[in-house]
Amino acid sequence: MNTSFNTNDLSHVVEADRAHVWHHLTQHKPFESIDPRIMVEGRGMRLWDATGKEYLDAVSGGVWTVNVGYGRERIADAVRDQLVTLNYFAGSAGSIPGARFAEALIARMPGMSRVYYANSGSEANEKAFKIVRQIAHKRYGGQKYKILYRDRDYHGTTITCLSAGGQEERNAQYGPFTPGFVKVPHCLEYRAQPEWDPAKEPYGIWAANQIEEAILREGPDTVGAICLEPVTAGGGVITPPEGYWPRVQEICRKYDVLLHIDEVVCGVGRTGEWFGYQNFGIEPDMVTMAKGVASGYAAISCLVTTERVFELFKANPDDPLDYFRDISTFGGCTAGPAAALENLAIIEEEGLLENTKAMGARLLDNLRALMARHPVIGDVRGIGLFCGAELVKDRDTKEPAPEKMVQAVVADCMANGVIIGATNRSVPGMNNTLCFSPALISTADDIDTITAAVDAALSRVFG
Ligand SMILES: Cc1ncc(COP(=O)(O)O)c(C=O)c1O
Repeated sequence: MNTSFNTNDLSHVVEADRAHVWHHLTQHKPFESIDPRIMVEGRGMRLWDATGKEYLDAVSGGVWTVNVGYGRERIADAVRDQLVTLNYFAGSAGSIPGARFAEALIARMPGMSRVYYANSGSEANEKAFKIVRQIAHKRYGGQKYKILYRDRDYHGTTITCLSAGGQEERNAQYGPFTPGFVKVPHCLEYRAQPEWDPAKEPYGIWAANQIEEAILREGPDTVGAICLEPVTAGGGVITPPEGYWPRVQEICRKYDVLLHIDEVVCGVGRTGEWFGYQNFGIEPDMVTMAKGVASGYAAISCLVTTERVFELFKANPDDPLDYFRDISTFGGCTAGPAAALENLAIIEEEGLLENTKAMGARLLDNLRALMARHPVIGDVRGIGLFCGAELVKDRDTKEPAPEKMVQAVVADCMANGVIIGATNRSVPGMNNTLCFSPALISTADDIDTITAAVDAALSRVFG
C-alpha cells in the first residue's frame, strides 16, 4: 500500500474552510486563532492532515464508519463503473446493485426479507418510525402509535430521531419534539439505577422489566414498537447485561410490540458478527443500518424488515393509501449498493469478522490491563472492535472524571498521532467514556499502538 503523503501547499484550503465551512458538532470560536483540521488522505488505518501529520485512526473516520479502512481501490472502481453505467434512477424502480446487495444482505440476516434504501442512519430510523405509525393506522385505528426508546441511546439528528433520543445534552434547545415517544431506563449495570434491588433479580432482568412497566403504564394497546441499539454507542458503549435481550424479546412478543434494532453503529461487522443483534439471539422485526454498510465510500442506509411487516403494506391494492408512501431521493443512488457489495465482499474475503473478534479481545485485554495502572479507569466495556473505557475521579464513588480532562486525554492522543474518541454532548455530566472503534482490518500492532497512546496520555493528564 502506498503510504506516502502528497505535500502540496494547502494553506488556501485551510483559509477557505475557516471562512466558509460550518463543521459538524463544533464550536467555531477557537478557529479564529487556530487552524481548523483538514483531513486529506487515508490508507488502511492511517490518515494525513493538511500539515502532513500522520495519524493512526482508532475511531474509523471519527464516528465508527470506515470499517474496511481507507484507500480501497476496488470499492472506488466498482462505484466508478456503476456511475458511468447508471448513476441514478428513483427507488420506485430497481437497480442491478440494489437487487444484488439486498440479496447479499438478506443472506446474512436470517428471518429478515426486505430492504428499503435511504441515505443516512437518521433517515432509515425515520422510515421505521413511519412504518410503525402507518401500521397503527391500518390495523389498530391509530391507537398503537407509541414508540419506546431507551435512556442514553441515540437514533439520529432529525427532530423526530431526537424525540427518540435518550441523550439530554444532544436534545437540549431543539424541542419541542414529536409526540408519541416514551423513554425507558438505560441498561448500564456499572451505573445501575437505585431502584434496582440486587437481592430480587439480576440487573439485566430488572432493566428489561422496566420496558414491560412502561408498556403497562402507557397501555399495551397504545405501544407499537421499541427502538433500541444492540450495544449503545455514543451514550457510553453500553454492552447489554446478562439476560437483558431474551427478556426484551419476550416482552415485545407478549404485547405485540415491534422490535426495531438500530444497527447504525454495530451493523456490518463492528461487533465481530454481521450484526450486533446476532450476538444476542434477537429476532427483530425491523433493522436499520448506515455507517459501516459502505464504510463511508458512499452514502447509503437501509431499513430491513421481516416479510410479516412487509406484507402489511400490500394487503389491499385497491386502497390508494395501502402501501408505504415514502421516498428517499438519494435512496435511488446506485453508488451506495455498488460500494456496499464490495464492502461486504472485502469483509468476507479478508476474514474481517474473525479478525474483529480476535483484535477486539486484544483491545479489551489491553484496556483492562491499563486499569491496573490507572485508577482513573472505572470500567471497561465492549464487544468486537467497539470498546469504551469509562473514566472516574474515584472508583468507589464512581464520580465521573471531569469532561475537560477526558477531552485532554483525547487531545493528547491526537497530538501523538492516535485518534481516539470520547462520548460528547450526550448525557449531562457523563461525557466521560473514551471510545475505540478502529477499522476491522486492525493488526495486533495497531491495537497495541492505540492502547500505548492511551496509557501515556492517562499518565500525562492524570499523573
Ligand atoms: C446508533 C445510531 N443511530 C443513528 C445514527 C444517525 O446516523 P446518521 O448520522 O447517518 O443520520 C447514529 C449516528 O451516530 C447512531 O450512532
